[in-house]
Amino acid sequence: MEAIQICEGIYWVGALDWNTRSFHGYSTPRGTSYNAYLILDERNVLIDSVKSPFLEEMMSRVRSVIDPEGIDLIVSNHAEGDHASGLPATQRITGAEILTSKKGVEALRLNYGEMRTKEVSDGEELCIGKRYLRFLETPMLHWPESMFTYAVEDQVLFSMDAFGQHLCSSKRFDDQVDMCTVMEEAAAYYANIVLPFSNQVKKAYEKVKDLPLRTIATSHGILWRSHIQDIVGAYVRWAGGEVEERVLVVYDTMWGSTRKMAEAIGEGVRSQGVPVLVLCLSATERSVVMREVLRSRAVAVGSCTLNNGMFPTVADVTSYMRGLRPKGRKAAVFGSYGWGGGASKAIRENLEAAGLELSYPDLELRYAPTKEGLDKCIALGVEMAKSIKS
Ligand code: FEO
Repeated sequence: MEAIQICEGIYWVGALDWNTRSFHGYSTPRGTSYNAYLILDERNVLIDSVKSPFLEEMMSRVRSVIDPEGIDLIVSNHAEGDHASGLPATQRITGAEILTSKKGVEALRLNYGEMRTKEVSDGEELCIGKRYLRFLETPMLHWPESMFTYAVEDQVLFSMDAFGQHLCSSKRFDDQVDMCTVMEEAAAYYANIVLPFSNQVKKAYEKVKDLPLRTIATSHGILWRSHIQDIVGAYVRWAGGEVEERVLVVYDTMWGSTRKMAEAIGEGVRSQGVPVLVLCLSATERSVVMREVLRSRAVAVGSCTLNNGMFPTVADVTSYMRGLRPKGRKAAVFGSYGWGGGASKAIRENLEAAGLELSYPDLELRYAPTKEGLDKCIALGVEMAKSIKS
């Protein structure tokens, strides 16, 4: 396999994972890539490794440029397994020392065993010959040890997970692929991985906003060179909690009553000229839901009651939301029940813990909705739409 030059002396030597469909619970219908980079200079540097089953692919790309034993240093920007589980073998093959943040030294040892590592500090610069590498710590973006590496003369930011997308492509750059697809996957990545760390995104932005950037070399998916302002601007908006005037309705249903309620709420929203998306959770992955939550100013979550609680798919998504904390959005709760109820209370608890603002009275209907019941659902949709219009 061949390395791909991204600028003079710097090569992409990563691996393409065409067929992975789940990334710790986040569905990846377009696969992903594990991006590693090789910098040729007086001291040759490998930026990150790959997930261990893909080590040979990375090494073959390295070999298309130099003998792996010619690598002098390895930079580990992030210790998570998709970039670092290949590190022990990479070090055995290359004999190179691993440079990483202080917390990276610990994370690598605890995850993968003893390796020869050297700590680098925030802002430190290392001369590797004709160029300098600058290390920029970005703690909790999204692990404690995370850092960026900036190739000063080349103006390349190796941005680790930030700005990445789970997207496998034979192309490497943003101007070679469909931007709608890339931005959709970048949004999904932000919503499912980065969202709880939005304050850390703001801090990282302060560190890089004045750097001249020719390329953002991400650890997943497409590299940015022609649309840098688009992705950086999107991160600033997402981190700032900017949303669109639109409503998301998600639900699950046992015998169709909650579905009728969801569709009536959607109809009420639509009647006010506000875009709405109505998704049944039996047919929608949790990571798609989060992508849509990211852009929506209000979310309605509905469930039939099953055994005094939520339907399992609703429990799954709302507990996932608790972890990702999409705060600042308005939320409504609805659902149908037969005798005791219980789903709405459980949904409410999860949404409150997720930081959503429960801005409307819960709407519960007993058994199949009547015309009067559906009118109440339409009225809720109207109220949601009006409350988010500026
Ligand atoms: Fe791509 Fe946090 O690993």
